[in-house]
Amino acid sequence: MKSHLPTHVAFIMDGNGRWAQKRGLARLKGHAAGVETVRSVCEELSKLGVEYVTFYTFSTENWKRPWEEVSGLFTLMRSYFKSELNTIIEKGLRIRFIGDRGEGTKLPADILELMNEVEAKTAHNTKLHATFAINYSGRDELLRAARKLAAEGTEITADTFETALDTHGLPDPDFIIRTSGEQRISNFLLWQIAYAELYFCDAAWPDFTATHLQAALSAYTTRQRRFGAVPATTAA
Ligand code: IPE
Ligand code: IPE
Ligand code: MG
Repeated sequence: MKSHLPTHVAFIMDGNGRWAQKRGLARLKGHAAGVETVRSVCEELSKLGVEYVTFYTFSTENWKRPWEEVSGLFTLMRSYFKSELNTIIEKGLRIRFIGDRGEGTKLPADILELMNEVEAKTAHNTKLHATFAINYSGRDELLRAARKLAAEGTEITADTFETALDTHGLPDPDFIIRTSGEQRISNFLLWQIAYAELYFCDAAWPDFTATHLQAALSAYTTRQRRFGAVPATTAA
């Protein structure tokens, strides 16, 4: 299986709210259950030998949600990274964050500090590179990159542009998995997914298990990636 594994899997973790509402629970309970899925997906991917994973955690559009939900999400992030940090280090995960952390960011100061701490303390780990997109959207990232290069007066080439993106140093995702039945990208990694394979799963994120992950990865093995070229077997 390993030779057919994607190098980088990215998740649009969707359906937490509906998962909770269906059970008569507050939406935040769905987010709390979703944290467990993040933990188990990291565990499974590490076991399988996948090298990179990215989780769409909080989009720049998610600020439109009620403040109670937004602040509840930050509380969950705080407790996850605080309580898990030692385990994350022991397990050899390298954590990175993408998204707007610049001047004027709406992210709470202590969350920014925690993000810096987690990145610094895991910087030398190599087992699984896990990236969390927080206060992130693809268009916002592209605009920030373009503004940065313009402000520096740097010539825009594919290389300089990639270097200015939040994801610099990470390989492009090979495989995007979105849970909960919605079939859209919702402003995720717009530059980086140019040739990613897409997979949509009906299970809500809190219900996404190792079995769903296996099914997704086995679907990936059947995809023929062509990158605009003619497949070798049919070339005239
Ligand atoms: C989680 O799912 C994704 C986040 C934005 C944190 P949702 O909260 O979007 O759940 P649904 O789509 O409303 O069910
Ligand atoms: C995408 O999910 C954002 C994250 C997973 C963080 P949303 O639930 O916000 O997307 P839409 O509104 O259904 O497109
Ligand atoms: Mg949603």
